[in-house]
Amino acid sequence: MAAIVLPQPGVFALGTPVQLFLELDLRGADRDPMADARTLAELVAGIKPSQGCNVVLGIRPSLWRRMAPQDCPPDVHDFATPVVGDDGFRMPATQADLLVWVAAGSRDSAYDEARRALATLGGMARLVRETDGWNYHGNVDLTGFTDGSENPTVAEAADVCLIADGPGAGSSVLLLQEWRHDLAAWDAAGVTIQEAAIGRTKADNVELDPKPPSAHNARTDQDEAGHILRKNVPIGGVADPGTLFVGLCASQAVLQGMLVRMVGIGGEPRDALTRFSTPKSGSYYLLPPATAFPGN
Ligand code: HEM
Repeated sequence: MAAIVLPQPGVFALGTPVQLFLELDLRGADRDPMADARTLAELVAGIKPSQGCNVVLGIRPSLWRRMAPQDCPPDVHDFATPVVGDDGFRMPATQADLLVWVAAGSRDSAYDEARRALATLGGMARLVRETDGWNYHGNVDLTGFTDGSENPTVAEAADVCLIADGPGAGSSVLLLQEWRHDLAAWDAAGVTIQEAAIGRTKADNVELDPKPPSAHNARTDQDEAGHILRKNVPIGGVADPGTLFVGLCASQAVLQGMLVRMVGIGGEPRDALTRFSTPKSGSYYLLPPATAFPGN
């Protein structure tokens, strides 16, 4: 009987209001990819489904290709160049080597687990970005709109997120993008303009009909662009409110296509949400199944 390929369990975790995202770069240029892969295997092996804390390990696509070429999907790539619209609006490329994504029910267990992950990685990698995600009134984004309404159901999520077969089967591609909102301008614009920017009503979350072509949900319309799973989290505080976009898909082209549609290229409209929110980072990570790590 063929072995079942299991994704890292945290990919589909539910009920995790506290989320920590650690992005790291490997130290030094002349590294041994196999030795590094064994350290990553140790980190993944230490994730016990019974601990009540989810840890997902993400790897820069070009790095995984060096570590495990037989388990790397052929068409995945780094976030190597900014995505730039016709008017110069820019989504920066800030690709790091590794992502440790910790999701838990409480801040103390998430913190402990993040420390454990860093200790396992030891001298191998240095932290380049730490982003704290928190929960705001369930699924509400700091813009005041419900986020995630058009997500796949639990039954559909695996088909949307996991590469079905071939090299990299059971892996998912994750797009991580830090956004900061200008809430003063957003509030001053008023609810009618906000609703036109998102493409849904604010109070009861009904899709506008028709959607303005520049509305966020028109630029990312999944009937046209393909389907993804979003696990976005609010970030920052009153001084620097934002959204960490956390998007998962079996196809990196779907995620990249949405970014291209949002910036407005080839005469297409730019996403109205980007008049109020600015992307500050952008990375792609491959999330290989736990069984793909050597020794696991
Ligand atoms: C500032 C950053 C962002 C915020 C605050 C945000 C918020 C929202 C909100 C409120 C909705 C409508 C409700 C829903 O269907 O979930 C939505 C829809 C959506 N967003 Fe975003 N989003 C952001 C960035 C992105 C990015 C970068 C992508 C893609 C790479 C994206 C993809 C989508 C998709 C696919 C939908 C559903 C579209 C449909 O109706 O089919 N979002 N987003």
